[in-house]
Amino acid sequence: MSSKASSSEKVSSSEKAELEIYKGAGGLKKVVLRDFSGYSAEVSLYGGQVTSWKNKRGEELLFVSSKSAYKPPKPIRGGIPLCFPKFSNNGSLEQHGFARIRFWNIDPSPPPLPTNSSYKTFVDLILSPKDLLPNDKTFWPHSFECRLRVALGLTGELLLTSRIRNINTDGKPLTFSFAYHTYFLVSDISEVRVEGLETTDYLDNLQNKERFTEQGDALTFESEVDKVYVSAPTKIAILDHAKKQTFVIYKEGLPDVAVWNPWDKKAKALGDFGYDEYTRMLCVSPAAVETPITLKPGEEWTGRQKLCAVPSSYCSGQLDPQRVIRGN
Ligand code: BG6
Repeated sequence: MSSKASSSEKVSSSEKAELEIYKGAGGLKKVVLRDFSGYSAEVSLYGGQVTSWKNKRGEELLFVSSKSAYKPPKPIRGGIPLCFPKFSNNGSLEQHGFARIRFWNIDPSPPPLPTNSSYKTFVDLILSPKDLLPNDKTFWPHSFECRLRVALGLTGELLLTSRIRNINTDGKPLTFSFAYHTYFLVSDISEVRVEGLETTDYLDNLQNKERFTEQGDALTFESEVDKVYVSAPTKIAILDHAKKQTFVIYKEGLPDVAVWNPWDKKAKALGDFGYDEYTRMLCVSPAAVETPITLKPGEEWTGRQKLCAVPSSYCSGQLDPQRVIRGN
């Protein structure tokens, strides 16, 4: 997605990098991060959602549907929606929680960056109860701060850091699930392998969340998939053979990984998904789902995902996925 800016204003969030805010598709404001080498990312204030991540050649790395509505209260279909405070469609809150369908703010007092950080281009956003709708507060009556830092690294890696703090004054704990519901852009889903989840247990949403163990082979895709891998490794690779490109996902604080592709019939039923777009996307989402996170008042949780896009040959020598996983 790269929508033309119709107006812009500038904010300054770091001494080293100048941030720009544009009005994007649907008039939704987005922050554009640009690195001096040419890498870039866009973050919509609607949902605190990354909607674009480009390499230095300007090639898009994330999938956003051409049919996405960009119209609240619908979530933007693609990029990296944040699922908080729940991941699923059970209970009274909206499917995948309210964070992806509320307007976030630029964080006026973000936690400081470590002094040796190589992430100089970043934006800090915050969502708190004042940004919610009355219904959200009825079903989730908590005081909290949900912070998101989106940062571009020196070699174009995209780092998302979330910090959630319980500021309840009534002594109540805060319990939530969380996911970075990341839509990767792939050349052709039939050419894609996911490495790192072999032998991991998963809950299959297409089979009443029954628990199975993944077999020894890499994941390949021939039909709808909707699974949550539990206690998954911290490093996972998506190998795109046609593009000779590998996405490497590093995660922290997020034990699980959801893997989703709607395939043709479900994609049609979604309404905001192009007819054959399922062939060009795969969601691999670091998450905390099986065991929700509970914070006592005053406690804070931090979760991270780092995404790198590297040529497969560079990473593995011979498109060897095992070496992608084991190497660094
Ligand atoms: C997945 C869920 O994570 O997200 C699926 O497991 C769901 O069941 C999919 O269909 C997309 O959800 P949504 O709300 O963005 O259409």
